[in-house]
Amino acid sequence: MSDTSCYIGVDLGTSGLRVLLINEAQETVSSAEQPYGVQHPNAGWSEQDPAHWLKALQTAFNTLRKKAPKAYQRVKAIGVSGHMHGAVLLNKQGKVLRPCILWNDARSHLEAAALDQMPLFRERSGNIVFPGFTAPKIAWVKRNEPEVFNAITQVLLPAAYLNYWFTGHTFSDYSDSSGTSWLNVDAQNWDEELLQATSLTTENMPKLIASNEVGATLKRDVAQALSLSEDVKVVGGAGDNAAAACGIGAIRNGQGFLSLGTSGVILLARDTCTPRPETAVHTFCHALAGRWFQMGVMLAATDCLNWLASVTGQSPQNLTSALGPKLQAPQDTRFFPYLSGERTPHNDPHIRGELSHITANTAPVTLTQSVLEGVSFALRDTFETLKMAGNAPQALTVIGGGSQSSYWLSLLATVLELPLMEPAEGEFGAALGAARLALSGDTQGDPEDIMYAPEIARVIEPDRHLVPNFNRAFERFKLDYDSLKRLQNNTSATTT
Ligand code: XUL
Repeated sequence: MSDTSCYIGVDLGTSGLRVLLINEAQETVSSAEQPYGVQHPNAGWSEQDPAHWLKALQTAFNTLRKKAPKAYQRVKAIGVSGHMHGAVLLNKQGKVLRPCILWNDARSHLEAAALDQMPLFRERSGNIVFPGFTAPKIAWVKRNEPEVFNAITQVLLPAAYLNYWFTGHTFSDYSDSSGTSWLNVDAQNWDEELLQATSLTTENMPKLIASNEVGATLKRDVAQALSLSEDVKVVGGAGDNAAAACGIGAIRNGQGFLSLGTSGVILLARDTCTPRPETAVHTFCHALAGRWFQMGVMLAATDCLNWLASVTGQSPQNLTSALGPKLQAPQDTRFFPYLSGERTPHNDPHIRGELSHITANTAPVTLTQSVLEGVSFALRDTFETLKMAGNAPQALTVIGGGSQSSYWLSLLATVLELPLMEPAEGEFGAALGAARLALSGDTQGDPEDIMYAPEIARVIEPDRHLVPNFNRAFERFKLDYDSLKRLQNNTSATTT
């Protein structure tokens, strides 16, 4: 295998960028990560400067080159996975016009509601126009930053922006493009009428290609800067959730995952396009041709634990390990994980997080327990909604940073009453999915053979003794949502 071709998967995440170098046998050769931050210039806003992604990308490629120089020289293709829905706006010189407005930014809630009122959007895009999606962001920019809007020549998703930087060509895959509100998810094309509703045309959009189709090869200056050949191909890539589905082999009807990342996602692959926008379930094209997936998305999952870590001055790992291995019954201190509003099932950009039932004895460990429980109940909310939309998995594979905590996994299995499968050590996330897309694009290999499931190290079963306790606590959590909503409305009425 010493002269085998190699592939790079890039995972442009919310908290950092990860690159993975694999060989043709899908063995991990090397990997590198570079963190970056999220800017919150106003409450509910969330932005990143694409220049920070490029800096992280070049540093990470440089690290790969130093760690595995021989394999690096044999790289044949690159695949990019990116956090979804963000708007990178380019002028006619290809310059970025403003920071990228991210997927968890709620500023365009008025524009989203107005677009969502137009029946064409749900009919053709298959989804609610959520405030985090791309189209309402453009409507917000048009209203609030007309000079930026007037200069827009191209609108690119984060992954497509990296494709553009690599190659000088604008192309995007169908899975990521599904989250814009401009793609007809069934017909799989840009919809002129939906674009017109935000004063854009298909001229402003990248070319649509399959996730494993080669979009272009590296630009000369980029190839030189990265010490790679100009023949290196860049494939369409995918949105991060579709890429993760490729990484864990969730490609056939009913196969899926639960992701505990910055956002919390439950995704199930579907072999038909059956949108159910009224449920706030998302229906997007899969990275594999002729397939789709449905997913429920909660906006703040590990973000909530990170918040607790920042206010207590402890690391997330220390907080969760203080809980010990054994699952505890739910307790009265409650946490509502709506740091950035919520998507599934509430579509509520206004709701905010809350801690309740605190006494003089409430210890940090109790707060951690309540944060993990709050996120888990919100995921159960999402799961119930997915079930209503016709999805009933027998088990889910767990991925994402939060799945490092055994306590959290046991809690989630119990709250969802569902066995959770923990992959064995190794690669199985969005970076692997992106690298697999690159491999498939270069070798023309059948994606079905390439996107296989990882080895499962252990299956976490629900704690049957505690299921009734958590069911009762979940019912309370659901009821409390309405009270919370009323309370927050009253509070804002008295403070504004
Ligand atoms: C999906 C979503 C998030 C982001 C960030 O709709 O908004 O999962 O892709 O990971």
